[in-house]
Formats: sequence, structure tokens, C-alpha cells
Amino acid sequence: MDINVNIEGLDLAPGEVEALRPEAASALDRLWSGQMDMTGWVKAPIEQDEEALKYLLDVADIIREEAQLLLVLGIGGSYMGAKAAIEALPKFEHGIEVKFLGINFCTDYYREIIEEVKRKSTIVCIVSKSGNTMEIQAALEVIRPIMEEKYGSKEEAAKRILAVTDESKGRIRQEVNEMGYTSFVLPGNIGGRYSMMTAAGLLPIAAAGIDVRELLRGAEAMATSPLWDTCGADYAIGRYLMHEKYGKTVDVTCFNHSRMGYFGEWMKQLFGESEGKEGKGLWPATLQFSTDLHSMGQFLQEGSRVFFETMLVIDGYDDEIVIPAGTFKGMTVEEMNNIMVEGVIKAHRSAGNPIIEIHVPQLTPFYFGQLVYFMETSCAITAMLMGVDPFNQPGVESYKTEMRKLCGLEG
Ligand code: PA5
Repeated sequence: MDINVNIEGLDLAPGEVEALRPEAASALDRLWSGQMDMTGWVKAPIEQDEEALKYLLDVADIIREEAQLLLVLGIGGSYMGAKAAIEALPKFEHGIEVKFLGINFCTDYYREIIEEVKRKSTIVCIVSKSGNTMEIQAALEVIRPIMEEKYGSKEEAAKRILAVTDESKGRIRQEVNEMGYTSFVLPGNIGGRYSMMTAAGLLPIAAAGIDVRELLRGAEAMATSPLWDTCGADYAIGRYLMHEKYGKTVDVTCFNHSRMGYFGEWMKQLFGESEGKEGKGLWPATLQFSTDLHSMGQFLQEGSRVFFETMLVIDGYDDEIVIPAGTFKGMTVEEMNNIMVEGVIKAHRSAGNPIIEIHVPQLTPFYFGQLVYFMETSCAITAMLMGVDPFNQPGVESYKTEMRKLCGLEG
């Protein structure tokens, strides 16, 4: 494991972490047992189906050759992972633009996307596990006629619509069967927010020109790392203790890399939807340093003590920018970034803030894959320590039911 996790800055009492290790280990065993519902993602990185991956990469190549724009219709776990990776990671030169629709009901946003679809050669990829999500149905019902008009017929449009959905259930699978869209299966035992390493995430990520083999290799390295049992469990236990014993209600993850913003959004979904139930859970918040040091930094230093911090630090860069003259002459921007992190930790520690440090050597697909798997597993373990089911989302379902009723549809 190349990602380094340090929970010393939580100042936990001696023996506290050790006391919880057996419980965390047993949660990890349950995840790996194959007996627990919705844990298909746990072994997925080490049980890759090479033929399926090759097919996915071939389709991604075709998308890149034939389109300027890949429009993904997806929301929640069916969009956030792809968006996070695409924002964060370096791309091949021939990657194409990937945009998302179905992430809101904002008319202005719809209008922008419609104009782009009209202007650019477009392939649409519907991503929906249930196949019944209203945002996605509405987006498809807006975009499908535009594609049909643009490409001349239903049949021609259908050649440019792909779907990633359940093998047999839901409206999207029904439509795949009726229209003959190229499709991929979103495995029944993997939930939306744990699906970045399935076709739901990998197809748009590959189309964007990111090396998904490296991404998967990183997830596999993390899944098989012998260090996992300590570092991964420590993060889960540390967060659990902050919640359960030290009365913290907010987990603020602070990034020092400008392209990690959507990874933060993905984390918020993963942790918020997995832990936030039965009156439990840490409210996941994110901040971007040094930008937010000049705003929320005040709260972190002197505001109410409801939070602890997780500093998620990208340590290095491929190239460097040396400051040519002036006060900081000869220093690199990267050095300034590292000094900023060190200064923040000192200042916030002096204010009594508990701090976890996670260090990632570089922002590459390999380390990103490690980080994703690390977060998914740690999140599941913390939720299990809290005594909640990490894989359901009854609250989300209840809003969907209410909205369906308001639309005059059955609950
Ligand atoms: O993590 C989850 O399960 C949810 O956030 C879903 O991904 C989200 O509600 C979208 O659902 P679906 O993929 O069924 O359209």
C-alpha cells in the first residue's frame, strides 16, 4: 500500500484503537466473506473479467473515434465516480469531452447541454442501476428526440445510445431490449456509490482518455495489500471514535490539490449515504486548501468544536514550477504547497483540532484507484462499527417515492 495514513493527530487515548481492531477485522472479514449482500465490489478488483474489460475498452475506443461528446445520463453513484476520476486524472490526447445530464432539473443547465448535443457529434450513455430514477428518465425523454432528429431516425439514434444498467430489471433494461442499445451490466450485488470500478464508472472514464487498467491495478494493489489491515482499519476506527466517543459530528476532508474537488463530492456521497441513517453518521464536508483557508480557515481555527479534519494530501507532481525571482526565489510551487500543509497542521493542532493525515504520492490513475478502494472499504467498516447498513439508502428511496407520487405515478 503506497497511500500513507496517520491517525496520531487524533490524540486518542492509549489502547483505544487496539481495543477496536478485532471488531474492525471481523467487519472486514464479513465484507470479504462473499456472504454479505451488496459486497460484489470487494473482490471485483482481483476478479477482473479480462474479456469484459477488453470489450469495454473497445467500445470506449469507438466512442472516441465517432463522437466529440459523450453525454452520460446518470445521478448519484451512477455519475459521481466517473466525474471525480475525469476531473482529477491526466488524459490521453485523444480522450473526448464527457458531460453529464440527469444530475438536476435545472432548465438553464438542460438548455446548455441541449445546445451542445445539437452542435457536436454525440454518443449518449445512460447509467442507472435501478433503471427507474426520475432524473434519468426525464433526461432521456428530453435527449432521445433530439438525437432522433439529429441522426434522422429512431434506429440511427439507437446506434448512438448505450446503457449501463441491471441485467434484467428496470425501465432502462426494457428499453435496451426494445431498441437494441449496446449495453453493459451493472452487477446486482454492487450499489451505486460503490460502482466506480464497474462499467458505470469505467466506460465514461475510459472514453475520457484515462488509463483504466492502471486505475484497476491501483484498486487491486489496495485490496491485496498486507498493510491494509492496519492503515485501512485505523482510518475507519479513528473516524468511528471521533463520532462515538469524542462527540464529533462533522468530518472535514481538506484537499491540497485543485483537481480533487469532485473526488470530495464522491466522498460526500459515499460516506453520507452509507453512514447517515438511524440518527447516526458523520456529516462529510470538504474544503479546498489553500483557497478555503481564507474563508472557512477561520472556523477551523476558532469556530465551534463539532468537527475533526482529514488532510488528504497529494505529495508530488510530475513537473515543477520554480519561482524565478522575488521573496520566494528558487522555491517551487510544490514546496510552497507542502509548507502550506505543514503550517496548517501546526496551526490547527495548536487549536486542539484532531487531524488525520492521508498522503497520496501523486495524482495518477494507479494511486487514485488505491484511494477509491481505500475509501470504499474504510467507509463500509466505519458504518458497520456504527451499527448501520453501509449499502442501503432508505432516505433516498423515500424522496423518490414522494416525487413519483407528485408526478402522478405509482409510489
Ligand atoms: O448510491 C446509490 O445507490 C444512489 O446514489 C444511486 O446511485 C442513485 O440514486 C441513482 O440510482 P440509479 O443508478 O438506480 O439511477
